[in-house]
Amino acid sequence: MHAPLKNDRFLRALRREPVDTTPIWVMRQAGRYLPEYRATRERAGSFMGLAQNPEFACEVTLQPLQRFDLDAAILFSDILTIPDAMGLGLSFAQGEGPQFAHPVRTAADIARLAVPDMDGELRYVTDAVRLIRRELDGRVPLIGFAGSPWTLACYMVEGHGSRDFALLKALSWNDPALAHRLLDVLARSVASYLAAQAEAGAQALMVFDTWGGMLGPKAFREFSLRYMQQVVAALQADAHARKLPVILFSKGAGQHLAEMADSGCAALGVDWTINLADARRAVAGKVALQGNLDPTVLRASPDVIRREARAVLDSYGNHPGHVFNLGHGITPEVDPEHMKVLVNEVHAYGRTLREH
Ligand code: CP3
Repeated sequence: MHAPLKNDRFLRALRREPVDTTPIWVMRQAGRYLPEYRATRERAGSFMGLAQNPEFACEVTLQPLQRFDLDAAILFSDILTIPDAMGLGLSFAQGEGPQFAHPVRTAADIARLAVPDMDGELRYVTDAVRLIRRELDGRVPLIGFAGSPWTLACYMVEGHGSRDFALLKALSWNDPALAHRLLDVLARSVASYLAAQAEAGAQALMVFDTWGGMLGPKAFREFSLRYMQQVVAALQADAHARKLPVILFSKGAGQHLAEMADSGCAALGVDWTINLADARRAVAGKVALQGNLDPTVLRASPDVIRREARAVLDSYGNHPGHVFNLGHGITPEVDPEHMKVLVNEVHAYGRTLREH
């Protein structure tokens, strides 16, 4: 039914199998640093207009692959599609972050939340996955994704971005049972959403836990990790998703890698605040690692970009199981030529690394 995969470096690295060179993709690789993305977004009228139209979503997903020798594509969408489908009313004001018209604050608000219908409000997502998989024609694998329950809850309770997401943190101290009810309906929604993307043709699944790292160790386990484990367990019981590698990325959670490695996931994303040699020791060969160049390095000169890319590759060393990525998303002011320097250096130096 699908074209055979021509480049399987990314999937092989996630399985910790040998590869000819280190695979690379970049978080937010389809985004505002690309003029062609800004042009399509202009035509679509708004971010949600872009994400909810499968033809536009497919077009922008493929844009970075036309410029750079990337080893994976990631579905163009957003983590906040689930709360939007739950009725919270998502919008992105130009130049500002996400906004919900109806944040979730009370027990009654939380009781009203239900797992969205994957063939209803979220049909545009699986339609986009099907179209992108067809248009990729086996060139590289397609990554599907979702937000972690904790990170989705952060935005749903606050109603918008925040430096500390104190409203959800306060709720979790004041009424932990209520916070758990919110996180449970989100975990069931995330699992069902990722399973639907797997059925539609996604070849790997990633969970973005952008705000898990701001929790203390006990709260991280109780409110963030526990619900990612629930998601992974549900995916392992799903006929389509069970075959797919799952990548968990908790930003700022370098100290929790050993525990996260026992979640049943295939790989962990890591940010730049931990050295990959230390991260590799922490996970003790149980999972692959994805990361971890500081995204601001892309604002430096090509020489610095090449040097820092080699330093990341050297810190992992000549071992199986490394997928190169930034430690967080690429930012709008990056020169696309700098991204090209990075991708080419990772492939070139990744080959040299394997010759020794
Ligand atoms: O990586 C990709 O190329 C795939 C697409 C993708 C987007 N968002 C598109 C997007 C992915 C994987 C996400 C994940 C996402 N969204 C996260 C987790 C990863 C992370 O960055 O921490 C979070 C927290 C969100 C929520 C979100 N969406 C915020 C806070 C913002 C505003 C900040 C910003 O960068 O503008 C968005 C908007 C958004 N999502 C944009 C893109 C390309 C920019 C919007 C635009 O085009 O105007």
